[in-house]
Parts: sequence; C-alpha cells; structure tokens
Amino acid sequence: MEQIKTKIENGDCLEVLKRYPDNFFNLIVTSPPYADSRNKTYGGIKPNEYVEWFLPRAKEFLRVLKPDGTFVLNIKEKAVNGERHTYVIELILALRKQGWLWTEEFVWHKKNCYPGKWPNRFRDAWEKCLQFNKSKKFKMYQEAVMVPMGDWAKGRLKNLSDIDKTRDNSKVGSGFGKNISNWVKRENAYPTNVLHFATECYNRNHSAVFPKALPEWFMKLFTQENDWVLDPFVGSGTTAEVAQNLNRNFVGIDVLSEYCKLAQKRTAHYQYRICEDEDEYETNNQRKNSEVCREKHTGVSSQQNRKVKKTQIESGTQA
Ligand SMILES: C[S@@+](CC[C@H](N)C(=O)[O-])C[C@H]1O[C@@H](n2cnc3c(N)ncnc32)[C@H](O)[C@@H]1O
Repeated sequence: MEQIKTKIENGDCLEVLKRYPDNFFNLIVTSPPYADSRNKTYGGIKPNEYVEWFLPRAKEFLRVLKPDGTFVLNIKEKAVNGERHTYVIELILALRKQGWLWTEEFVWHKKNCYPGKWPNRFRDAWEKCLQFNKSKKFKMYQEAVMVPMGDWAKGRLKNLSDIDKTRDNSKVGSGFGKNISNWVKRENAYPTNVLHFATECYNRNHSAVFPKALPEWFMKLFTQENDWVLDPFVGSGTTAEVAQNLNRNFVGIDVLSEYCKLAQKRTAHYQYRICEDEDEYETNNQRKNSEVCREKHTGVSSQQNRKVKKTQIESGTQA
C-alpha cells in the first residue's frame, strides 16, 4: 500500500498554486467564501465583484487540474434587496468563457435545515454543487456511489407494463431510451443529481463548515486511491480529513493561518491509520513498525486483528 500525503498550506490560493505544476490534481472540490458572507472572519467579497475576484483563481485551478480531472464548486447566491443576486449565474458564464465545460449541476439538499420564517421566502434548504471539466472525457467511477434500489424494487419494478419490458425510446427523438426491466432483481441503482446530506452541527471553530458526506461523495465519484485532491479554500479541513479517510493525497489552502492550524489539528490524529488486514500486513513484512505505531498512536494492542499504515503529514503553514 502506498503512503499518501496531506499538505495544508497557508496563503492566498492564487499565489500558493503558482508553486504547483500544470495538470497535477485529479479533483478540485471546494466551498469558496460566499459573496458578502462572514465579513468579520475572512472578509466578504462584494456580490458585484465576485466574478472578477474568482476568475484569476479559477485560471490557476484550470492549469493545475489534469485534463481528465473534475472541479466541483459548492456555492449559493445570496438574496440582495429582496431578490437573488445573479453572481453565480454570471460566474458560470465567465468560467465557460475561461475554458471550463459546465458539465453538471448537483443539488445538495440540507436534510436538517433549521426552521425559520422570512416575509418573502421560505427556508433555504439547498445549495449548488457545480461540476466543471476541462474535457468531455473525464474520469468518473459511478459504481462507487451506487445506492440501494429501495422503494423502486418494492413498487414500480414489481408491476411492469409491456412498454417497461422492452426498450422505450424517447418520444422527443433525443436518441435516449430506457428499459426498466433491466433493473429488476438488482440491489443497487445509480443515484440522482440531488444529494441529501444533513449539515453537521458541531462547532469546529469555523463558521462555514460543510458535512464530510458532501466531499466524500465527490471524491468517491471522481477519484481513486492515491489520486490527488485539492481544496483551495480548505477552512477547518473537512476535505482534508475525508481525503485521508479515503486514501487520497491532498493539498488544502487557506488564507487564514488559524484555519490552517485547525485543518492540521483535524488531520494529525490520522497520522497512523488502521487499514490493512492481517494477510496483507504479514506479506508486506511491516510487522515491527506497525506494532510500535499501533500501540503508541491508536492504543490497539498487537494481539488485535487490525493493522496500521503510516500516512505522511506535511505542513506548509507559515504561522
Ligand atoms: C466557506 S469556507 C470553507 C469551509 C470548509 N469547506 C470547511 O468545511 O471548513 C471558505 C474558506 O476560504 C478561505 N479563503 C478566503 N479567501 C481565500 C483565498 N484567497 N485563498 C485561500 N483561502 C481563502 C476562508 O478563510 C475560509 O476558511
């Protein structure tokens, strides 16, 4: 098993990324500062200036992403003067001009969105996760995110019509068709582009943490073990922790040193990971090292049927 690296860098991602080569990362997944948000912590960018602020950074993202890689941007436009601002729409158009393909839009439905009442709108219970690519041929591992067939198996798939049993070609001539009977007796189906994840409510000393399940889903879909993942606005290190769990190499950048420290702290205890099974461990002939690591860092005794792999932690924090 290869060692994976986790690197947290302090600085503006625009500058820090200049140190990275072209076509390096397999996935960029991030939640940037939202316009005008959190002014007191990391300084809000005015909605009218958001595209201008984002574009030079996106140019670096485009350069460091592999040709078959993916960029996932979690963002939501705020309401300004009683209507939704259009900066996200303008950003999508500008990114397309910059050379990105806008491949897909996922909706993150916040299952546990807190209650509230506003005079002219309802609770905001979803955010966009915009998918951009450099080319139409990008790496995607759809089997990694399959979901149980669930109610479909009990209902619709039990009562198939004659049309369901043959290929039903699109009535609008799109060339698409479906044969629903193909899915009978299957346990898993491909998910939709609506992702239902609860926000995580515990305080991480950061005001805009997203749930681990969100980057985890995208890392499984767009990367494999030992691939490289970038979060240029890493905040408290949610993506860093998930990348370590999934054995992905990781670079996270944040302009605030206190958030870099948070992210480092959050990932440090994963330095020694329990991940190899007995046979693999024995054949890798790492018994001595692993036993020391295990007892020192995890408290798991050498008698237990669990093994340890060392993960290298690096720090680029200036603070
Ligand atoms: C929405 S938060 C990210 C939260 C993160 N997803 C988490 O789970 O903790 C955006 C982060 O971007 C950082 N940031 C703002 N401008 C930046 C820049 N130019 N370069 C790097 N980081 C920046 C902020 O300090 C903030 O921590």
